Amino acid sequence: METPTLASPRLAQRGRAAINFQAGIGIASARLLAQAERALADRGITADTLPEDMDARHDTVAHVIGDHPAFRLNTLLSEWRAKSHGPVARDAFEEQRDQLVPALHALDAGPSRLVEEPIPPLPSYWADTEFHRTEGGWDSSAYNGYVHGEILHKLMLAKMFPGDIFAQRRAAASAAPRRDYARILDMGASSGHYTVALAEIFPAARITGIDLSPRMLEHAARSGNARGQAWQLHVRPAEDTGLPAESFDLVTSFNLLHELPPPVIDAVFAETFRLLAPGGDMLMSDVPRFAELDRLTAWRFDHLAKWGGEPFWRASASMDLAAAATRAGFTGVTAGGIGTAPTFHPYLIQGRKPA
Ligand SMILES: C[S@@+](CC[C@H](N)C(=O)[O-])C[C@H]1O[C@@H](n2cnc3c(N)ncnc32)[C@H](O)[C@@H]1O
Repeated sequence: METPTLASPRLAQRGRAAINFQAGIGIASARLLAQAERALADRGITADTLPEDMDARHDTVAHVIGDHPAFRLNTLLSEWRAKSHGPVARDAFEEQRDQLVPALHALDAGPSRLVEEPIPPLPSYWADTEFHRTEGGWDSSAYNGYVHGEILHKLMLAKMFPGDIFAQRRAAASAAPRRDYARILDMGASSGHYTVALAEIFPAARITGIDLSPRMLEHAARSGNARGQAWQLHVRPAEDTGLPAESFDLVTSFNLLHELPPPVIDAVFAETFRLLAPGGDMLMSDVPRFAELDRLTAWRFDHLAKWGGEPFWRASASMDLAAAATRAGFTGVTAGGIGTAPTFHPYLIQGRKPA
């Protein structure tokens, strides 16, 4: 039988228009912020004169341009978008539910699967948080993997964020020092966008993915099946996977670490070290380190993270990930952004478990 393809989101007119409107507001909001930053510069506040402390940076910006129309409008639109983007995407799905649900279930059968096993206790920093200000968090609705992975990522975020968000995943995976890994673990695989990049770059590898969200992993399995891939997906915490020691040659993640409190990030590096076979590679990609950005760019990330419902972004972006990886036992650790100035996103940390 021919493998069914993942129906590219075919939303109805109203849903498409609402999503496009959200993306347009996101783009307009970024332009307003740039305008507000120019007003800040006109009043003598630049990356070089902003205070070192992040709260003091916010106070300075609020004091100097808090009443500037562009900044006030950016604040209003950011708040509106933060509250409305989730419901708008969900409504767009509901409008086409009768067509989408059968198309999605047609992709349940195939070589990729969410392994049926008891779900481990979900950590409170994950279960009790409404990430991205989506009511109910990652598992807020039965088809949230599609809503988040296809509607939000492909139709909204891909238009709003600078650069190609999928090419960034391929670039991150391509930075691994070898091409012959037999066993790869994708931590925080979510709806599978980075897993797709891994499968493209390491076609011979056996890919395992873990995440805490069954709804995201269900979609990842469908995405794998649409591509004829055989991914084994598990609901497991990255900091304590329960997977056998030394069972992977590459352990990797994309945009997982900023979702975690710093002590959990340390635990993730320790677990990665345990999971790797001697000589295996660790490759983690995430948001840039605040300490390596100019102060205005770091402030902008912190501002966006606040509206974006990212409770751990500031603490994790303030952490020295190269030091954390070295503490866990990795050797030859390197870290740095591979993107363009001034953000250099994505930021990569690599290291090897000694042979
Ligand atoms: C920003 S998404 C990851 C994006 C994904 N790698 C991609 O390329 O699109 C973060 C994911 O990490 C998952 N997550 C958060 N904490 C986790 C943990 N402790 N262990 C495993 N997954 C976790 C979330 O459920 C979410 O699906």
